[in-house]
Amino acid sequence: MVDLSVKIGSLRLKNPVLTASGTFGYGRDYDEYLDIAQLGGIVTKTITLNPREGNPMPRIAETPAGMLNSIGLSNVGADRYLSDKLPALKNVDTVVIANVAGDTIEEYGEIVSRIQDQSRIDGIEINVSCPNVKQGGLAFGTNPDITAEVVRISRLETEKPLIVKLTPNVTDITEIALAAQESGADAVSCMNTLVGMGIDISTRKPLLHHILGGLSGPSIKPVALAKAYQIVQVLDIPVIGIGGIMTWEDAVEFLLAGVTAVQVGTLSFVDPYGSIAIIEGLRLYCQKNGISKVENLIGGMIQS
Ligand code: SIN
Repeated sequence: MVDLSVKIGSLRLKNPVLTASGTFGYGRDYDEYLDIAQLGGIVTKTITLNPREGNPMPRIAETPAGMLNSIGLSNVGADRYLSDKLPALKNVDTVVIANVAGDTIEEYGEIVSRIQDQSRIDGIEINVSCPNVKQGGLAFGTNPDITAEVVRISRLETEKPLIVKLTPNVTDITEIALAAQESGADAVSCMNTLVGMGIDISTRKPLLHHILGGLSGPSIKPVALAKAYQIVQVLDIPVIGIGGIMTWEDAVEFLLAGVTAVQVGTLSFVDPYGSIAIIEGLRLYCQKNGISKVENLIGGMIQS
């Protein structure tokens, strides 16, 4: 038997595979494809204090090795999240992490305060990295001082594990990661999407109404792996790897680079069962290689 469990701060996950925010709805959208209780955890879609329509269509486009999105944090808002969405996860035996964003620094504190007493929420992921909205997005996560302030204000409102989702669209991601750690984050998620765009040459129109969007999928995996590795070198808190993880081999690479868990995003759109296949692949890899605990893989890269 292989022990697949890992710890993120005070959270014990049954395995290191979570589904990423914005790719798995509010947690029950994939019920016909998989048993969500098999997952290490679910990160629900970003919620904001008030409902948001999001950006005009088109807001998703395919690229040769990935996907561009410019959703604009479309969501039902905090009230409906608490009344309709969260109760649907009541008896599910897996970790639930609520991803939140605000339009202002203060609004991060307000949304965290609004949801933090819910026993069904095991942890809170702060989205300071959405590239598709003016406020509550990239601007916060690209500045270490503002990131620190968002984390500090959120930390004041909750004792639940606080995870900060970082943007790669900065010169030095370690600076932002350190700011998050120093102001009270329990973990960081690395990384959100890379800013990208595409143009349809027959219509000469941008693929996305918003022109710029966030690139995800296999094309960004080497970048995500490098960023996660760089952050692991400087932080004492756990790092959760995200970015183009499509196979169990990808997940092993991230663990060897030093992350404690991974989030699977774009893969769920291509193969809704993919996250479970990654868990099974990890288990078999450990079995075949005589690894009794998946935790023993973390940071196990051997430098040549
Ligand atoms: C979006 O809603 O535009 C994407 C979410 C994100 O990148 O954080």
